[in-house]
Amino acid sequence: MVQQFNPDDPIQEALTPPSSWYTSPNFLSLEFDQVFFRGWQAVGYTEQVQEANSFFTGRLGNIEYVVCCDENGKLHAFHNVCRHHASLLAFGSGKGSCFTCPYHGWTYGLDGALLKATRITGIKNFNVREFGLIPLRVAIWGPFILLNLEKETLSQQDCDDDVGMEWLGSSSEILSTNGVDNSLSYLCRREYFIECNWKVFCDNYLDGGYHVPFAHKDLASGLKLDSYSTTVYEKVSIQTCDGGEEQGQNDFNRLGSKSLYAFIYPNFMVNRQDRYGPWMDTNLVVPLGPRRCKVVFDYFLDTSLKDDEAFVVKSLEDSEKVQMEDIKLCESVQRGLESPAYGSGRYAPMVEKAMYHFHCLLHRNLMK
Ligand code: FES
Repeated sequence: MVQQFNPDDPIQEALTPPSSWYTSPNFLSLEFDQVFFRGWQAVGYTEQVQEANSFFTGRLGNIEYVVCCDENGKLHAFHNVCRHHASLLAFGSGKGSCFTCPYHGWTYGLDGALLKATRITGIKNFNVREFGLIPLRVAIWGPFILLNLEKETLSQQDCDDDVGMEWLGSSSEILSTNGVDNSLSYLCRREYFIECNWKVFCDNYLDGGYHVPFAHKDLASGLKLDSYSTTVYEKVSIQTCDGGEEQGQNDFNRLGSKSLYAFIYPNFMVNRQDRYGPWMDTNLVVPLGPRRCKVVFDYFLDTSLKDDEAFVVKSLEDSEKVQMEDIKLCESVQRGLESPAYGSGRYAPMVEKAMYHFHCLLHRNLMK
């Protein structure tokens, strides 16, 4: 299946990946092993665990994780699984000085240490120090929290040193100097469950604005679509587009009224725009099955605008409209991919460069 896509064909001649990449449960298992459980994955943002004793949980494939900030402000991440009989320990997000298992009450500190194992009188060959939570490597880049779910161990220090370069490569500096930083504060989260393979959503994002004039007519009116440009880096692609009438003279060293759409392989998007004021949203695409995914939208805004309710409501409504339009497209594509009529397609070379880059990266990872 993997080899049915040929990354050596130039985009002008290449076929898109076969539909089996988007429908096969075995292919998704391979993606978890080779893509999601290797390298850094975005899982959240720093404000979620800014305060001492705060935590949030999540799931990627069969990995349940909890990220927390201990009472000394140190960030940790663990497998969110009790060492007694495997119950999940923490749910959702919140605050607390320890994790108490809801099943039989074993209690762990936020540093992962097993603090209390209830009613184990008579147990033999049991060392409490060996039954702490299993740690995961965690790192911060800008406003984002990253996990590395690889089984092979590197020290936490090794990870922290090169996370920016490893995760973003040479685009790291470009993103941070173009407003993907801590200057905006968290506004809210929206989650969408979509009946499509996770890559269908990514592909839709990576078509260089190709679908915008057809599928997002309101959005298209605020963008100069002929200014769309795409640049690919190691594991990142950045699409930019000028705003409509409000377009200023600024180049991209300052955002001005440009929009920046960064795709960070494999499943994280950062959209930074100043069209309506300093605004950023991130999209995390979480595979839930061969034909189902969840997309988590987190919105960030300049603090000075957070109290402007009319502005916030209007901006979120505009965003929601675009998401609904995209969901309809993605679910339609998934049904088409499952039809015997379709095997694979072609790229529009001038606009779908970022999509081709995504497929080539995926192919490379899956062949390892
Ligand atoms: S499963 Fe957690 S205490 Fe028993």
